[in-house]
Amino acid sequence: MTTSGPPHASESSSARADTVTGPAHVALIMDGNGRWAAARGLPRAMGHREGVQALKRTVRAAADLGIQCLTVFGFSTENWKRSAEEVSDLMGLVRAYVGSDLDRLKREGVRIHILGRREGLPEDIAAIVDRAERETAHNDRFLLQVAFNYGGRADIVDAMNRLVRRAAESGEASPTFTEADIDGALSTHRGPPVDLIIRTSGEQRLSNFLLWEAAYAEMVFQDILWPDYGAEALNAAVGEYRRRDRRFGGRAPEPSAVAS
Ligand code: IPE
Ligand code: IPE
Ligand code: MG
Repeated sequence: MTTSGPPHASESSSARADTVTGPAHVALIMDGNGRWAAARGLPRAMGHREGVQALKRTVRAAADLGIQCLTVFGFSTENWKRSAEEVSDLMGLVRAYVGSDLDRLKREGVRIHILGRREGLPEDIAAIVDRAERETAHNDRFLLQVAFNYGGRADIVDAMNRLVRRAAESGEASPTFTEADIDGALSTHRGPPVDLIIRTSGEQRLSNFLLWEAAYAEMVFQDILWPDYGAEALNAAVGEYRRRDRRFGGRAPEPSAVAS
């Protein structure tokens, strides 16, 4: 049996063209800054600083690979448990990244969205975040979502409360919601579905990242500390993704359909 594949399969002779041409949306848990610094006898802040360089390299590499949307985990709702000094270093990274890269991102057509709760952020960081979103709102070549003061559970709670509030405003006494309603109320609603979640540093857990969105995402765990990340590592993860069969609960493709 031969299959022609989906209509946009021209780049591939395989019925797995959806997978082969993706991923459209990659999410990244940027982990290992502290261990990178410790291995060099440096303060953790240096690891975080190098992590910003890795982020810049990776955003560029993602666009080159045809990825449309990159979501990176920068600060979790649990990271407030760290020392005041480290929290302040991590907040400073937003200043550093936006300060040094906003103009370039604007020119290159990148739209920035910050996922996560604004309340709790220092005022100047909240203002920088608002500015980055406002000044890139017209861009549509690439979507960069930075999860900052973000937790997957908190995001689901916020989405539910938003839906309940809207229902109450429109006079619905006992509303019921669908998966699509929740999808649309999450902070990630602007991006395409998450295809691939990568975690660096060797840890193999989600740490409260994209809990709802991870339902059928592929996961790749890489033994690379985040400050060492870049095009080569992202290519390797995307290569691994493209070798996977995504079945979404359905059946594996027939052997004759996957042969090229
Ligand atoms: C990732 O590096 C950055 C954030 C969590 C904000 P870590 O600081 O977690 O580094 P490790 O895991 O201690 O090596
Ligand atoms: C997850 O990393 C959060 C970010 C990368 C921002 P952590 O280093 O905070 O996660 P745990 O504590 O190892 O689970
Ligand atoms: Mg960590």
